[in-house]
Amino acid sequence: MSLPTPTYPIPLNPFHEEQPFFFNPPQDDDELPLKEIPGSYDPPFIGAIMDRWDFYYNQGRDGFFRARQEKYKSTVFRANAPPGPFIAKESKVVVLLDAISFPILFDTTKVEKTNFFDTTYMPSVNFFGGYRVLAFLDPSEPKHKALKQYFFNVLASKHDNFIPLLRKSLADLFNNLESQLEKSKEVNFNPISDSASFNYIFELFCDKSPSKTDLGPQGNKTFVDIWLVPQVTPIVTFGVPKLLQLVEDLLIHTFPIPAFLVKGKYKTIFEAFSSSAGPTLDKAKDFGIQRDEACHNLIFITCFNTYGGLKVLFPALFKWLGRASPTWHANLAKEIRNVVKQEGGVVTLAALEKMSLLKSVVYEVLRIDPPVPFQCARAKEDLVIQSHDASFKIKKGELIYGYQPFATKDPKVFENPETFVPYRFMGKAEANIKYVYWSNGRETEDPTVDDKQCAGKDLVVLMARVMLVEFFLRYDTFTCTDEVFLVGSKVTFTSLTKAGTVKTKN
Ligand code: HEM
Repeated sequence: MSLPTPTYPIPLNPFHEEQPFFFNPPQDDDELPLKEIPGSYDPPFIGAIMDRWDFYYNQGRDGFFRARQEKYKSTVFRANAPPGPFIAKESKVVVLLDAISFPILFDTTKVEKTNFFDTTYMPSVNFFGGYRVLAFLDPSEPKHKALKQYFFNVLASKHDNFIPLLRKSLADLFNNLESQLEKSKEVNFNPISDSASFNYIFELFCDKSPSKTDLGPQGNKTFVDIWLVPQVTPIVTFGVPKLLQLVEDLLIHTFPIPAFLVKGKYKTIFEAFSSSAGPTLDKAKDFGIQRDEACHNLIFITCFNTYGGLKVLFPALFKWLGRASPTWHANLAKEIRNVVKQEGGVVTLAALEKMSLLKSVVYEVLRIDPPVPFQCARAKEDLVIQSHDASFKIKKGELIYGYQPFATKDPKVFENPETFVPYRFMGKAEANIKYVYWSNGRETEDPTVDDKQCAGKDLVVLMARVMLVEFFLRYDTFTCTDEVFLVGSKVTFTSLTKAGTVKTKN
């Protein structure tokens, strides 16, 4: 494969091996003063509703946490977490906003995560065929170990298909994006990306395209999205005008949307998986799991964990690169094409490992814009936690709630934390990925059956890398706009420049 190398002026790599970039390592300090956790939940009940309104409507997500951090002069404080009554049984939480206190949420010897996935409430089990699926199980439950081990095994068995299948889906994605851009000046990337990522993950686990099942070619939109929406609406706002905020709050933040409304959709999803994922589901009995339960879990992993996660992650990659200068597009294209050429035109795991700028860009997107912003857990025992400047007592049974975008943009750890720095994790500074927490664990650690770290962690990083490799093999540069959309971003492409067509500036 011979691909043109763009001829932009490429800046010297500003990173020096000896000088970890933009990093202020925090010091261990046993002598930090013990402080009372500031903040309040009051007045009873009303306080939870007021905090919810601040979160969705008065202050917004970042504004909610920032205002309290400033008011209490602390990155650890008490507040009511959204959505609160009546969807979540509890809303009183201890909020963590810094990189030092946050990892207590990963320590399953100290915290328990029964029924907490992403936030303070769990959707009805009727969304999942009556089972509490893996994401809601605590590692102390034997079923957690069995299911997680089963999925590690499933993922290992699919390993050889990860890259070839993804490249196939991405080729469809970019053909589609290109043809739409030929007809229109701007194209919404999200639905095109959603469709490609669903086709990929379904085919990976079920060995056939979803279009060959009752889900049809638009199955992600007409079935899966409709099943997902009622589960996530309590943590989002559609940005309705002021006059409609009360209506929205009552409809989606106050009472859970019942699962029976999407029962028919879920039945079709279940049948598509059950009839297509034969070999994957048959394996479940070796782990002591019934086929039916395995199928509901596979649906959750495919449609919620992966498809839901990629709905946020893929647009985020282009949002941040779209905001970066075209020089970075050129640098990426150059690195990717050189390595692929050296590897004989093949995209392999080993080739991806050699792309140090690409790896850094993906970690930087996961740092600056973690796809799952909230983490929640309950203290198993009386705990003492530390922030940068104080320690705090949390009582057994209290809820701990981390807002990750602040923890991974902690200015005491990362310099210029709000700036997207493509090379932030290059060279020796790659060690700083231990402060990247998107997977509900440190990026330097691997998920195990005893923790709650994302079982698909490596696959997620791989998918993000392959997405950019495929993109920069085809294109030199692009332009896009972005805006907030539910828990993530909507990205609109306004131009795509095919590889080899960029004119030199020299
Ligand atoms: C962009 C895509 C993804 C993102 C952003 C993501 C993120 C996460 C996060 C944050 C958690 C922990 C949630 C919590 O307990 O607070 C989690 C858990 C989990 N994820 Fe992922 N994930 C993604 C894709 C995947 C994939 C591809 C798989 C497997 C194929 C997967 C399987 C799981 C499982 C099984 C759990 C629960 C782990 C346990 O209970 O121990 N995820 N994921």
